[in-house]
Amino acid sequence: MEIPQKKPSYGLEDLESILLTEAQIANRVSELAEEISSHYGDTDITIICVLSGALVFTSDLIRKLELPTRLDCLRSDSYGDSTKSNHSPRISSPLKTGIENQHVLLVDDILDTGNTLSELMEHLAQSKPASLRTCVLLDKKERRQLEIQADHVGFTVPDAFVVGYGLDFAERYRTLPCIGVLKPEFQKASCF
Ligand code: IMP
Ligand code: MG
Repeated sequence: MEIPQKKPSYGLEDLESILLTEAQIANRVSELAEEISSHYGDTDITIICVLSGALVFTSDLIRKLELPTRLDCLRSDSYGDSTKSNHSPRISSPLKTGIENQHVLLVDDILDTGNTLSELMEHLAQSKPASLRTCVLLDKKERRQLEIQADHVGFTVPDAFVVGYGLDFAERYRTLPCIGVLKPEFQKASCF
């Protein structure tokens, strides 16, 4: 007899554990904003948000910065509907603004193997910004394939597939206010 597959609820019930609560994230985002503001002083900066994962983090971060800021977005995708990066990152949306001679801060959700951030940095460096720094909310150090570190890091997390606060699995869970580990039974595209 076939055992009926459990359906995801797309909510907190699908998480195995909560790694970071809404309050912990909010506190750390404020600290990061202070760190970034004090690094740049009153320099005009261009924030580049890596869509879609960094959207929620960037929107909270920019409202805490005490800096003259321009905002632009890039889209990169290496996961598709899987929990393992299944091809090298693709940059599928160009910048709207010019960044030559601008101080650029690239903001991403999570630094994992390092392929995405490294490819995006190379891509942006071609436009000759005055400076190029990086900020990631999460750092999954154990999975690094390239020697790359972010200049500003929110939290170091273990090697587990996490969702929430912008991070997704198959475009789901981005709207959860906290960050948690997705139950293994829901880490399959066939569930959705
Ligand atoms: P990297 O190229 O392997 O460093 O992967 C970075 C990108 O993969 C991030 O910007 C995320 O979009 C995605 N990613 C990596 N780990 C996770 C995870 O645990 N949950 C959701 N997305 C992830
Ligand atoms: Mg991403």
